[in-house]
Amino acid sequence: MQKGQRVFIQAGSGGVGTFAIQLAKHLGATVATTTSAANVALVKSLGADVVVDYKTQDFEDVLRDYDVVLNSQDGETLEKSLRVLKAGGKLISISGPPDPQFGQEIDAPAFVKLVMRLLSSGIRRKARSRGVGYSFLFMKASGSKLREITRLFDAGVIRRVIDRVFAFESTNEALAYVEAGRAKGKVVVKVK
Ligand SMILES: NC(=O)c1ccc[n+]([C@@H]2O[C@H](COP(=O)([O-])OP(=O)(O)OC[C@H]3O[C@@H](n4cnc5c(N)ncnc54)[C@H](OP(=O)(O)O)[C@@H]3O)[C@@H](O)[C@H]2O)c1
Repeated sequence: MQKGQRVFIQAGSGGVGTFAIQLAKHLGATVATTTSAANVALVKSLGADVVVDYKTQDFEDVLRDYDVVLNSQDGETLEKSLRVLKAGGKLISISGPPDPQFGQEIDAPAFVKLVMRLLSSGIRRKARSRGVGYSFLFMKASGSKLREITRLFDAGVIRRVIDRVFAFESTNEALAYVEAGRAKGKVVVKVK
């Protein structure tokens, strides 16, 4: 990302979105996000410049010519995301489908690489025809990135948003809570 770019981060009130908004703002981006009315104040407090209530508005009607979209929703939203990007923009999805590049990165067996190629062929073709890029991103543990994020955290540049903390014995309950899709920020399982 470069200073001055426009990025659309879906579900800004979620575990990924609450951090992604702050990091994109730190990098100098203008940030648009989606959430429901109850979380508008939260995402604005994290720095979101444009907030679309996904229950009453279609982001496709509001957002235009974005440089980057971080997709975390379903296939329909993924396709719509292509239409808010400008030519040369990038659609990055963390909710799939995985693409051949990802298969290379994780050194997947040939058959798995083929499945990834097939699963993502539709969105890659549509992206190409609009002159935008598509890639799938899966979190990789990185000590150096975590150290950098810790520095931003300690300096007060970014803050954590924690919805609920569950005891280790209640991990199943925590997972069910996350899967319900209503979390505001992160859900923590306390190991010790
Ligand atoms: N590839 C990776 O490395 C990676 C890493 C982490 C997560 N993920 C994936 O990324 C996705 C998001 O994860 P997450 O932990 O951020 O999710 P999450 O915390 O469960 O997201 C919940 C939030 O999303 C909002 N929301 C629900 N439906 C929405 C919609 N249609 N449009 C906009 N906002 C909506 C909710 O707000 P309201 O209550 O206001 O509706 C809620 O605050 C999941 O599919 C997860 O599996 C991938």
